[in-house]
Amino acid sequence: MLVHYRDEEAMRSPMQYEGGVLRLIDQRLLPSEARWLTFTELETVAQAIENMIVRGAPAIGCTAAFGLAVDAWAADPRSTWDSYSPRFEQAVLRLARTRPTAVNLFFALDRVKALASGFSQGLLMEQVRTEIETLAIALHKGDLETCKAIGRNGAAHVGGRSLRVLTHCNAGALATAGYGTALGVIRALHERGQIEIVYVDETRPWLQGARLTAFELASENIPYKVIADSAAAYLMQLSKIDMIVVGADRIAANGDAANKIGTYSLAVNAAHHGVDFYVAAPLSTFDMMLEGGHMIPVEERHGDEIRLTAGRYMTPREAAVWNPSFDVTPASLISGIITERGVLTKPFDRTIVSLFQ
Ligand code: MRU
Repeated sequence: MLVHYRDEEAMRSPMQYEGGVLRLIDQRLLPSEARWLTFTELETVAQAIENMIVRGAPAIGCTAAFGLAVDAWAADPRSTWDSYSPRFEQAVLRLARTRPTAVNLFFALDRVKALASGFSQGLLMEQVRTEIETLAIALHKGDLETCKAIGRNGAAHVGGRSLRVLTHCNAGALATAGYGTALGVIRALHERGQIEIVYVDETRPWLQGARLTAFELASENIPYKVIADSAAAYLMQLSKIDMIVVGADRIAANGDAANKIGTYSLAVNAAHHGVDFYVAAPLSTFDMMLEGGHMIPVEERHGDEIRLTAGRYMTPREAAVWNPSFDVTPASLISGIITERGVLTKPFDRTIVSLFQ
């Protein structure tokens, strides 16, 4: 089945939740198929994050919070918190093991843990599950509002002229509760009539750009062209890019930012060609415990993601492969960090600290 590009359900959010049941759109199949999967067990929610059914830092965080609500709903509603809490701790640990780089995952788990720390031993699970799901729903709703604020702030900062923008990976509605971070800025610019064209890196090996970002842009009639990742530097050399905007999975206290592999080489090329390079991310993506990007854990994924394309080997079957999912862009190469509270400029170590104070 070919997805209708105006599939409003998919565009609003990649997830839906009601009464202990989580639904995720299977992002591995987009854009050729819009299949919604239903989850009623924590383990399958954890596997959905690991296997990229759901991906993108804020979306992973929201899914983890909903996963804890799903697990609480699976318990006997007449039992009490003291009998369930060891299982809750295991559930948090299981979700924390899914993907290491996106700090939004740990932000969401910490929020639910903080809530749970206030539960009395005799609290009925009926009440526990309501409290956890209320928080998960609030996190999801909050992320959508945050994305819209990021979009507004970014567009106000860079707007005023028609722009040729380049983006990498998918930091759109599908990667968040809806609307997107980097794609939120692009959406807001488009709403102001200030997008000439968006160049979309296809983003090997998962092709989040070609499959997901292009899908989102097409659905809203935002002009775009998909390019091979290796074409980006040439576009800059030809003076065809005014600005780059990407998302982030984790930003250290000094402004170093981890994002999809290939982001760092874009930033190096942008600096060489004098192109503005922006990172768009919510406050939940900052990790103030880490002084610099060298401390960010970078996920390495299975070699078959490189070896195989559409189920066929593109390399010798036994080819040795290195498959880091992310890289870290040093703060020195970033022109500005677009957040829901405004656009941070250099020196980032000072502007970030004052934002969190
Ligand atoms: O491996 P993924 O698809 O989860 O990686 C996603 C990215 O790198 C995004 O740019 C990032 O999570 C920001 S999403 C708003």
